[in-house]
Amino acid sequence: MDPDGSEQDPETKKYSSVCVGREEDIKKSERMTAVVHDREVVIFYHRGEYHAMDIRCYHSGGPLHLGEIEEFDGRPCIVCPWHKYKITLATGEGLYQSINPKDPSAKPKWCSKGIKQRIHTVTVDNGNIYVTLSNEPFRCDSDFYATGIFKVIQSSS
Ligand code: FES
Repeated sequence: MDPDGSEQDPETKKYSSVCVGREEDIKKSERMTAVVHDREVVIFYHRGEYHAMDIRCYHSGGPLHLGEIEEFDGRPCIVCPWHKYKITLATGEGLYQSINPKDPSAKPKWCSKGIKQRIHTVTVDNGNIYVTLSNEPFRCDSDFYATGIFKVIQSSS
């Protein structure tokens, strides 16, 4: 018997869900931060949905929990407060606008750089919010700032 999970192998334990708070609290604040198995994440409550991602921006480690949520191309994004990169809440894609240089009269179009910010899973059980870390095997740019010496948010000044 292993009631507190202390005998689980470390890899299994790393991907077990962790209670980060109460639903009633995040519904008021619309965001919260948490440390889940030594990884800092931010959880957003936006339009009735929960989204969790690495707290540091994939670009240069900016504090995403201090950003504003805006919609681009109909997709809710967190806008990093440091250099205004846009990251989709649902998928962690980096969005940018492009224009065809051969057709300067064309309207800029929103495009995706692909998944840049690691997204984690949020579940709600009995009023409690749980986060399960992503174990998707691909390398995500935000991993760089979620591990090692870059784990502490540095001042931008
Ligand atoms: Fe986020 Fe540069 S650190 S946009």
